[in-house]
Amino acid sequence: MRIPLVDLKSQYEEIKEEIQEAINRVLNSTTFILGEEVTKFEEEFTKYCGTKYAVGTSSGTSALHLALLSLGIREGDEVITTPYTFTATAETIIHCGARPVFVDINPRNYNIDVPKLKEFLKLKTRPKAAIPVHLYGQPVDLDPILKLAKEYNLKVIEDACQAHGAIYRLKIKKVGSLGDIGCFSFYPGKNLGAYGDGGMVVTNDEKIAHRIRCLRDHGRKGKYEHLMVGYNYRLDALQAAILRVKLKYLDEWNEKRRKNASIYNGLLKDSGVITPYEEKYAKHVYHLYVIRVKKRDRVYKFLQGKGILCGIHYPLPLHLQKAYQYLGYKEGDFPVAEECAKEVLSLPLYPELKREEIEYIVENLKKGVFYL
Ligand SMILES: Cc1ncc(COP(=O)(O)O)c(C=O)c1O
Repeated sequence: MRIPLVDLKSQYEEIKEEIQEAINRVLNSTTFILGEEVTKFEEEFTKYCGTKYAVGTSSGTSALHLALLSLGIREGDEVITTPYTFTATAETIIHCGARPVFVDINPRNYNIDVPKLKEFLKLKTRPKAAIPVHLYGQPVDLDPILKLAKEYNLKVIEDACQAHGAIYRLKIKKVGSLGDIGCFSFYPGKNLGAYGDGGMVVTNDEKIAHRIRCLRDHGRKGKYEHLMVGYNYRLDALQAAILRVKLKYLDEWNEKRRKNASIYNGLLKDSGVITPYEEKYAKHVYHLYVIRVKKRDRVYKFLQGKGILCGIHYPLPLHLQKAYQYLGYKEGDFPVAEECAKEVLSLPLYPELKREEIEYIVENLKKGVFYL
């Protein structure tokens, strides 16, 4: 058996005709950048998230960059996030000339540790914004963060790049719609993935939406009238048309992911493997199904030998990456993130994954954990 970490081919087979139709529509329209497809996708995504505005961008990275710029983040500012995320979260803070300041994660849900954030904010530094990341598809506990944000005058950008459709149950709201701004990535392997790069910013603030719309397209007002120095961060029409097809299936696919996660949970019960914990306030959408095991690298290789392709998200926290050395952090600064980085293992998970395949994965995982 060969089981990939993500299977985009099976999904494509299911919706092939609709996708071809959408692509043909764009080819016939000859509008390839922004235009009607992007506007319609923005409208549909806004509705889906329950926000007033959505602005399509070229990637999740550009969405985060524009979100920070629209809030006026600039040189000398500090922005809080965790060291346990994809590099883009911190990278975009630096692209604004600002400095990422890290707070460790909670070992149960891998998201920012709220009590540690509280302690951090009591220090003298005065960050301008925070980027909580809904890691692996599990919503961050946003209520206390939004309270702290009010108290300390912080803007909140939700990095929802891994959590399309996840719900913060305390407010019965989709992630991305609770902070000042929410950012999404449509990288192909995401729960809602394009056939190339793509991203989206959502917000309820008209001024922010307007600023981002302008910044993503060279600061344009008219064709050759530029209100500000902007970027080429536009979403293209082919991706928007493809994403419009896929958005209709997102909830169904997320439910299938949740069902597969619960099959894993059942089979791994009492196995000694730490399985994902779904917080009461969260409806997890399992972008990734991440377990924790000792001797992780050996288990990874063993499974690979059995045709089971796993992932590691992430093997090295950002504060220990070469790119971020200049920030001055050292080993031991974020012990939870450091420990997780040594033990996490992402098992294959996608809507089309079959029960027999999960059984095969778990059987081999148990062998690997027991004998290695
Ligand atoms: C948490 C997180 N933030 C940001 C990004 C950046 O998104 P993109 O790859 O679309 O630029 C990703 C995507 O991998 C991500 O997982």
